[in-house]
Amino acid sequence: MSTVLVINGPNLGRLGSREPEKYGSTTHDEVVAQAMQWGSDLGLEVVVRQSDDEADLVHWLHECVDQGWHVVINPAAFTHYSYALRDACALVPSAGQQLVEVHLTNPAAREEFRHTSVISGVATGTIAGFGPDSYRLALEAIAARID
Ligand code: DQA
Repeated sequence: MSTVLVINGPNLGRLGSREPEKYGSTTHDEVVAQAMQWGSDLGLEVVVRQSDDEADLVHWLHECVDQGWHVVINPAAFTHYSYALRDACALVPSAGQQLVEVHLTNPAAREEFRHTSVISGVATGTIAGFGPDSYRLALEAIAARID
């Protein structure tokens, strides 16, 4: 069974109470439970981790390369400026694994600084704007591509 590590970046641990008018009322724990259920429906082993620390995300991406895991990543604010995270993300497709960038909101429809993603250019693909369903669509895309 293929493994997908779902990586959530800074402030996503506050889902449920964080700006619910933008991010909705689903908590991070609920996103974890949903992602694991979607994964099991698709025949994928899904593990979800969240950190506010850029170094954790970089180290987890290295672990994915070493373990042969696919990645769904919501880099949160790091999306817009972290070249360290971009370089770590680039290692995953280069190793032959899928890396899908996801966002709950549609950053292109928000403030100007959110229109730039330094991650998109190295991702297999990007899914944005569908709330927690963005994670489901990303897992479906990975399941279809590795079938
Ligand atoms: C986000 C969008 C980012 O611009 C923002 O910094 C986040 C969440 C999203 O899921 O919509 O923290 O990645």
